[in-house]
Amino acid sequence: MHLTDEEQRILDGASGEPQRIALSVLRKLGEAYGADRMAEITSAHVVGSSYQIAGEAGIEIYSQLVSQGARVKVLTTSDPGSIDFARWREFRTPTAYAERQIRIAELLDQMGVIPTWTCTPYTTFNVPRFGEDLGWSESSAVVFANSVIGARTNRLAAYVDVCAALTGRVPRFGLHLPECRRGEVLFELDPDLAESFEDHFFPALGYLVGQVTGDRIPVIAGVKHATFDQLKAFGAASAASGSVALYHMVGITPEARTLEEAFDGCEPAERLHVGKREIAQTIAQMSTGQGGAIDVVGVGCPHASIDQMRRYAALLEGKRVHTGVQLWICTNTVVEEMARRMGYAKVIEQSGAKLMVGTCHNDCPLGAWGFRRLATDSGKFAYYTPTTVGTECVFAGTEACIEAAITGRVEQR
Ligand code: F3S
Repeated sequence: MHLTDEEQRILDGASGEPQRIALSVLRKLGEAYGADRMAEITSAHVVGSSYQIAGEAGIEIYSQLVSQGARVKVLTTSDPGSIDFARWREFRTPTAYAERQIRIAELLDQMGVIPTWTCTPYTTFNVPRFGEDLGWSESSAVVFANSVIGARTNRLAAYVDVCAALTGRVPRFGLHLPECRRGEVLFELDPDLAESFEDHFFPALGYLVGQVTGDRIPVIAGVKHATFDQLKAFGAASAASGSVALYHMVGITPEARTLEEAFDGCEPAERLHVGKREIAQTIAQMSTGQGGAIDVVGVGCPHASIDQMRRYAALLEGKRVHTGVQLWICTNTVVEEMARRMGYAKVIEQSGAKLMVGTCHNDCPLGAWGFRRLATDSGKFAYYTPTTVGTECVFAGTEACIEAAITGRVEQR
């Protein structure tokens, strides 16, 4: 693997021990994957910000790095933590656990990581441009950056992302190479399919695509229109049920202006037809529980945008969340602040719903609540919460989830 003079100097220790260790990890990774050289990145996004992911080992590693003077070399943002920093007592987080998360936050601050605590850094703080190389982790953010923006990053593991942040480098293989970004599996949709499933559609389609595709690159043909939030929901679901890191949506995403461009002139390895039956079957699979009484509702996965907050407020105006039900809306501090200024947060909180800021159901210890059945509009929550929260899960559209929080019951479609 070719190294520049500067990279060689870093490996010789000229830039300090943290950079030397970080670059040697990246070099080993690059050699394992046959990289020809390093790529310079414009930003990093790290998941080891969460105590649930980093654990005590993370605190030990970050403490050592800080004591050796480690500072990030490129713009670096943090994924959600394992607590809502302002409200962790309200969410019944054990004090000792919260203190460990706060310790991680202090250490990341000292390394120069921007404390964004969000899985949607691409909306505000860390906005990549088309063609830029990145060193990101967080599956939902990686798939958005690659697919919707056209930036280039592999799905980095925790700590490899920190190595990228400390050096401003990643080994150049996989999705950094144009020839590894061409589509492999074609999904052809029936016309008007989206209209039949309203707000179920994009997370359910993403879930289906992820299940079939695994870690290959899907191309979706037949979507006429998709909003920013729908693309976000689609990608997060596909990255959870499979390990999709890049998708092409013909006529919607930037590397797929045409079907030919999406496949780079090659033939698809596999073709699938998606109609009402396939989407309905997927929606049924996404629920591990039946319709009926629920005790917790989770929306805002990935973190809610201000437009989603507007919608939640409109659906909750003048209503009350049912006694015994928790409706938690996950978002980040910037969206929370805008929602306060615009009056949405007041309407949401007057209904009895809670904003869960800088974290999510999936990242927090929720054992103290004893939840049994969760309703969600997120394909990613539907995939993970049966394990992480330990509840049954019922997948429903956004409107149906808010309705379920008000009535205490969810209807399965
Ligand atoms: Fe974000 Fe948590 Fe969902 S990190 S993508 S809200 S599982």
